[in-house]
Order: sequence, then C-alpha cells, then structure tokens
Amino acid sequence: MSSAVPNTDTLCDIGFIGLGVMGKNLTLNLADNGYKIACFDLDQDRVDDIVEQDKKERGDQPARVVPCQSFTELLKKLAAPHLIILSVPAGEPVDHVCSHLIDAGIDADDIVVDTGNSLWTDSVEREAKYKGKFIFFSTAVSGGEVGARFGPSLMPSGNPYAWTRIEPVWHAASAKVDAKTGKPIESFTPGKPVTEGEPCATYIGPIGAGHYVKMVHNGIEYADMQLICETYHVMREALDMTPPEIAKVFREWNEGELNSYLIEISAEVLDEIDEQSNQPIVDVIMDKAGQKGTGLWTAVSALQVGSPAQTITQAVFARSISSFKEERSAASAILEGPEKMALSEQEKAEWIEQLKHALYCSKICAYAQGFQLMAIAGKEHGWNLEFAEIAKIWRAGCIIRAVFLQSITQAYENNDKLTNLLVDPFFAEQITQYQSDWRTAVSKSVLAGIPCPAMTSAISYYDAYRTEVLPANLLQGQRDFFGAHTFERNDERAGNKYHVQWSEPNRPMVCIKK
Ligand code: 6PG
Repeated sequence: MSSAVPNTDTLCDIGFIGLGVMGKNLTLNLADNGYKIACFDLDQDRVDDIVEQDKKERGDQPARVVPCQSFTELLKKLAAPHLIILSVPAGEPVDHVCSHLIDAGIDADDIVVDTGNSLWTDSVEREAKYKGKFIFFSTAVSGGEVGARFGPSLMPSGNPYAWTRIEPVWHAASAKVDAKTGKPIESFTPGKPVTEGEPCATYIGPIGAGHYVKMVHNGIEYADMQLICETYHVMREALDMTPPEIAKVFREWNEGELNSYLIEISAEVLDEIDEQSNQPIVDVIMDKAGQKGTGLWTAVSALQVGSPAQTITQAVFARSISSFKEERSAASAILEGPEKMALSEQEKAEWIEQLKHALYCSKICAYAQGFQLMAIAGKEHGWNLEFAEIAKIWRAGCIIRAVFLQSITQAYENNDKLTNLLVDPFFAEQITQYQSDWRTAVSKSVLAGIPCPAMTSAISYYDAYRTEVLPANLLQGQRDFFGAHTFERNDERAGNKYHVQWSEPNRPMVCIKK
C-alpha cells in the first residue's frame, strides 16, 4: 500500500524521527488524519510520551503511533517504499539521522522529508549528496507548536515524484482556508481535524525553493513583529499608555485591515500580569531579543542578490541593538534625547490613529520587500515561484497569517507578472489614502526620540521606489571620479559606458564600451 493513503494493515504508513515539540505535534496531527506512524527519537522518554498521548487521544480506537527503539526497527515497521519525516534541529543533526538511515538499509526509492528550519542551500546539497541512496525532500513548516498540532502552513520542495507521494499527507495535515472568504477554518480539538477547505500546502519548486520561501516568511515575520513593537514603544513612551490600554487598541485594530495572528498575540502578551511581581509581564521580560538565524539569513540573501529588503534587515538589526543591554543602560545616562511632548487627549487620539495607518503602510512595504526578494532570488536560481499560491498558503497556519494575505493573493491572481506589491492598484490606493498619517507618525517618533527603524526604513523604501530620479547619479559621478568606475548616460542606450578623465584640464568624456 502506498504510504500516501492511511492503511489498516500492520505496517505503518509513515516513519517519524525527532519527537521534540514540533515533531510530537506533527505526528499527533498525522495520526488524527488516519495515518499509522512508526516513531523514533534518540531520547526514548519522548517515544514513550507520544505513545501515551496517542492512547489518551485515541480512546477506544486502535493506537496510531507505533514505538520504535532504533532506525532499523523503524524501517522494518514501515510499508515500502518508505516515507520518513524528520523533525530534528537544522544543521548537522539532519545528516546524522540520514547516515543512520543509510546504515539501517534505506532504499533508493525511499523518501526522507526534512521539516526543520534548514538553510535552503543545505537542502540543495543534501539532495545531491543522498542521490542513489534515498530521495531527500524538504518541507518547511510554519505555525509553531499549535500549528504543527492542528494545521501548519507547509512549503514543500524537491523531487516531483516524491511530491506525488507526500502531497496527500501534507494536504491532510496542513491548515485549511475557506476558498470563498480566504479565512482560516480552525479546529483545536484532538481527533477532529479540519477536512474541508483549501489546504495551506503547495509544491513550491525544486529542492531549496521551499526553505528559501520559508526563510523569507521568517524575514517578513521579523519585520511584522518589529513594526508592532515600535508602535507599542511610541504608545508606551510618547503617549504614556499602559500595557492593557495598548492591548485594547490592538484588539480594536484586529477587527480591521490589521487583523493578524501577531497583533492578536501581542494584545495577549500586553494583558498578561506576572504573578511574582504583580506587574504587567511585558515589564518584567528583559528587553533583549533572541534570534535563531532565519531573519539574518534573509537579510544576507537580500544583500547578496541585491534586493532592497531594508525593513526586514532593520528588524534584524533592531534585535542586535537590543542585545547591547548594558551598553544601552550606560549610554542612557550620558546621551540626551528630546524633551517629552505635552499632549492633549485629542492629540493622543490623533497620534494613535496615525500609528494605525503607519503600521499598515509599513507592513505593506515589508511584504512588498519579501515578495520582491523571492522574485529576484527565484529568477537567479531558476525557480518558477507562484506568488498567488505562496500568499494563499500563508493565509492560515503560519505565524504571519493575516486577513491582509487575501489581498496579496488577489493582487497576484489579478496579475501574475506584478513587479512589486506597491504598484498593485489596491495597495497603491491604500498607501495613497494613508500616507499622510504614515509620514506624520514617523516624523513624530523621530521628534520624540523613539527609535522606529523598521517603520522609518519602510517609508524610505516607499519613497525610493516611487522616485524617478535618485541621487545615484551623483554617486556614480563620485565613483567615476575616484575609481574610474564608469557610468551610463540617461540619454543613450543602457550598457554604453563612459568615463570622465577628471584629472585632465578639460575633463574629456571617453566612451569605454558601446
Ligand atoms: C514559524 C516560526 C518558527 C520559529 C522561528 C523563530 O514560522 O513557525 O518562524 O520558524 O518560531 O524560528 O525564529 P527566531 O528565534 O529567530 O525569532
């Protein structure tokens, strides 16, 4: 029996290796969808734990999780050709598991699916490295532990034959969206998976493409989070609002165009009280941001392919500067900022409204940058990325899920050759409508001395993108002056190169290439 269809035989449909939080929840999700799964983890307690959990959730029904004590046992308990899913930390552990599977006798037409947050180039290397031993396939997963349990967003890529085998599994396990409204259809009850709606899992392309797209998803996630944090910071410092007051505003915003999972959870964090100190929990959480690396990878890739993803990059730098806690504390006693502004209640209310529109416009820019980066990288690597499909699978299950993704889906469905989200008629109109508030909010944050690097970079991105003549003409002149780097003329065909002999008395211009 194909491992893509749940079976009732004794052999298992799927092998699962790595039963940490994500692996355990993905396994239980697959079990809910009728698959029988052979499970293995180097930590045997985790195997025992998931067997217990499955028993509890299955009740009178037969168990769907089958424990294994070794890689060899896992292969024996699986229907051939084997389909094995890995949920192990990115990097060396993936290769460690692969080499154990080879030793255990995995076959050339068996499939190993890596679901970790792997670097996309590692996936490309692994497909080549394991060719002839087994088929290495990748699926990037977004949605955290709840997503993994009840429906994540999945970004699979690799061998197309392997995709035909894994497709029904991922369609069953992924989050679902109502095709008409674009809204998530959710169920958080074990044993009752959502079976209707459009699955948030689509084939992204050749190996590497899926993890690249997930990496950019995380870059956008960094920007989205940072923009919300900057908005909070202005409300807190300039408007003297309390965390619960800010939570209330976020909840109101969550009813409209800013509706998103990240706004929703931000309100929850801001409303939480720390039991130990009886203060808002946000006031006892140390202001030092961690990062696992995917935002950094996105920024590095943007720099490498020359894609202007400055809001995403600023979000990475914002985490970096936050980690200089001691230096910042020392500097705060030395470096002066502006005087605090005195504000009337009406001025405060106006500023809140301006912030709402600034957050929305900046968010549009962050997504525009992410999609622009995928377009440039896709071209460079020969991936035919379908942006309407990518936006579709981000509408539910993933961390950046938002109502807004439906408008992005529509933008690319209306025009699959769209060069930038900013020039989509809907988004262009939205920014035109709100840009005055956006500019005012950014200016006021600078005047108040509150750092808003993501928001400020977003407006610079917008202004640079809509500016026909940038000062890069002077910059090219400078480069030609000190380094004879040449320039193109805007009254001639692109590609013709000129140089001014700056040290000659009459500074003659010579044509270097025609
Ligand atoms: C997701 C998340 C997930 C994880 C990130 C967080 O899409 O489910 O993005 O991948 O939470 O690794 O990354 P940082 O630790 O870098 O914030």
